[in-house]
Amino acid sequence: MNSQPQASSLMPSANTAPREDLFLANGRLVLPDQVMLGAIRIVDGMIVEITEGDGVPNGAVDCQGDFILPGLVELHTDNVERHIEPRPGVDWPHLSALLAHDAELASTGITTVFDAMRVGSIHTGKAGYSDYARKLADEMLDARGKGMFKISHFLHLRAEICSETLLDEFAMFGPQDRVGIVSLMDHTPGQRQFRSLDALKTYVAKKRGMNDAEFEQHVAYLLSLQAQFGQRHEAGAVTEARRLGAVLASHDDTTAQHVETSARHGIGFAEFPTTLEAAQACRAHGIAVMMGAPNLIRGGSHSGNVAAETLAQEGLLDIVSSDYVPSALLLSAFRLAAIWQDVPRAIATVTENPAKAANLGDRGRLSEGLRGDVVRVTEAAGVPLLRGVWSQGRQVA
Ligand SMILES: [Fe+2]
Repeated sequence: MNSQPQASSLMPSANTAPREDLFLANGRLVLPDQVMLGAIRIVDGMIVEITEGDGVPNGAVDCQGDFILPGLVELHTDNVERHIEPRPGVDWPHLSALLAHDAELASTGITTVFDAMRVGSIHTGKAGYSDYARKLADEMLDARGKGMFKISHFLHLRAEICSETLLDEFAMFGPQDRVGIVSLMDHTPGQRQFRSLDALKTYVAKKRGMNDAEFEQHVAYLLSLQAQFGQRHEAGAVTEARRLGAVLASHDDTTAQHVETSARHGIGFAEFPTTLEAAQACRAHGIAVMMGAPNLIRGGSHSGNVAAETLAQEGLLDIVSSDYVPSALLLSAFRLAAIWQDVPRAIATVTENPAKAANLGDRGRLSEGLRGDVVRVTEAAGVPLLRGVWSQGRQVA
């Protein structure tokens, strides 16, 4: 059971309150290879002891057979953006938004999050959007440094390849920012996530209120941006990820050729491949596949792409991300446990596998020597019912 954490290259979040020891007993501990009735003791933020049996020693909490899981690890969530801009055009005070986002994630069992922020903006044309990542990253890092967060936060820069300002925005980041993940995104219409123009039209029309003629102009404009910037920015983003020391992720790969290109770039994991073909190619290249929890829960993708459940049944699903619904992460792990009839395998998709993909060797498993990030949960009326969430042994929900 002894396992030393690898030194993480990422800076942990600083919490300043004193840590209390935590002793959870008579719980169903979800270990990497089995579910074991037992107890777990956390001292000074670290797991120090895991023992088998249903005893409840003095000073321990009786978990009454509830599941005890490692804290969930979320690699790609838009949730922070939702809090920053709660309605189109509304810029909510950022610190308040960050804290609400942090508390929301804690309340769903997530103890480590990579906050996705977009780099690459479009300043011209009707459907432009402006840059915010550097400023928001500063605010997030400042709050983290002051120990304001309940859970552990890292940076995920999602690079919009077909934008005007990608490389300028990257240049504002350096290795000192400890960017954890850079994902390569190309949302040009007619390809990848938006192969179906109808699905894009529904999405854009709702979000931006465009009529048919405006939508056509919008599509033509985005195609021209791809022609102008696509290749140079893709190569530039790969170079920048290396300079920043970040794990590189692909996004919305659709064909085996896309995956081959991603493999050449040295990507660590694939976000939301849109077809069975792409997921199979990932497997052939040894690239971990991440899918969205909402897709799994809804029984399909909102953009009409491959269903996460299909990939799960084909054995091609390694990591789940909450994407745009934080509470979907734990829910999807329970759903996978039912599909696979294998609790440890399902829980690994939201704990050990994402931690590994992001090079975090100090968490993701219930194992002596790792961080004391744990979740107590039972199931009621078909949904996970959280009874407690601890980050480094400190209760956060
Ligand atoms: Fe996408």
